[in-house]
Amino acid sequence: MPEKILTNKDLEKTVDTSHEWIVERSGINQRHIAAQDELASDLATRAAQRAIETAGLSPSEIDLLIVATTTPDMVFPSTACIVQSKLGISGSPAFDVQAVCCGFVYALNIADLFIKSGQASNALIIGAEVYSRILDWNDRTTCVLFGDGAGAVVLSSSEEPGILKTKLHADGSFRDKLCVPGWVNAGEISGSPMVTMDGGAVFKFAVKVFEQTARELLDEANLSIDDVDWFIPHQANIRIMESTAKKLKLPREKLIATVDHHGNTSAASIPLALDEAVQAGKVDRGDLLLLEGVGGGFTWGGALVKY
Ligand code: ACO
Repeated sequence: MPEKILTNKDLEKTVDTSHEWIVERSGINQRHIAAQDELASDLATRAAQRAIETAGLSPSEIDLLIVATTTPDMVFPSTACIVQSKLGISGSPAFDVQAVCCGFVYALNIADLFIKSGQASNALIIGAEVYSRILDWNDRTTCVLFGDGAGAVVLSSSEEPGILKTKLHADGSFRDKLCVPGWVNAGEISGSPMVTMDGGAVFKFAVKVFEQTARELLDEANLSIDDVDWFIPHQANIRIMESTAKKLKLPREKLIATVDHHGNTSAASIPLALDEAVQAGKVDRGDLLLLEGVGGGFTWGGALVKY
């Protein structure tokens, strides 16, 4: 996480909102904000170094690098190529995945296929975002919800499968419900380069597909919700997560929620929540994790993972 913390009380001073409103509607208390000169690749590289070290590997053993991000350093090259260079490695494939807040789940699925097909042995998957760059800080309907950060995992080949089931979906007919419509055009930005969102539509859609995807995954894996040890959804809003848990009849204690102190960090939110749950001694080896994401596009999906 970037060092700087922005609390709801700080936001009260600059935009017409209140700590109480933000907590009640979203569950967010504070978020981290990147420094002026801190890029997605900087946060991603730090997260990557820690993940590689925790996995007991050296950077040179990474043979696939995927960065899920909506806020890349530049139009091109990919943030993954920049991170690869910052890690001091080269040669293996490196690319970005753009599926907004579902990016980490997409990247996990792709890395799993690379490993299963024998094309990679140690895949580094990073979710990294600097949403503070694409927020209109005068728009209270969006700026209070997001934060910056990066999380990373290493996925290695094994005789015993860890990724038990994955599911990806998209429906581009919803593309205008959550977007940054601007684009670079002949040296200028055409359209707004800021997040615009129909919050209500996103909310309803997220609650619907979180439940649907969980049922799809569990049915196909021949498992029940009681088999799930930890539910780690994309951290957008505590009300979305809690209502999903309730619909699935999953005890609240099994829901990992970090949105209160991270805000919505988009593609970074799942690996950040996973890391925190591991560090806290909650998620342990052998536990069954239900990961789920939903984001602009709309994109959505999930994975059942034996940790
Ligand atoms: N502070 C105070 N008041 C506010 C704020 C704010 N920050 N923002 C909106 N309001 C006002 C509205 O103007 C409205 O006022 P009105 O009744 O006078 O018109 C009132 O609060 C209620 O607004 P709603 O939008 O109806 O509030 P709601 O309960 O739906 O909560 C929220 C809004 C938090 C945005 C919710 O809809 C939500 O979380 N949606 C999902 C958003 C999300 O998850 N986005 C990210 C998706 S992931 C990705 O891909 C990036």
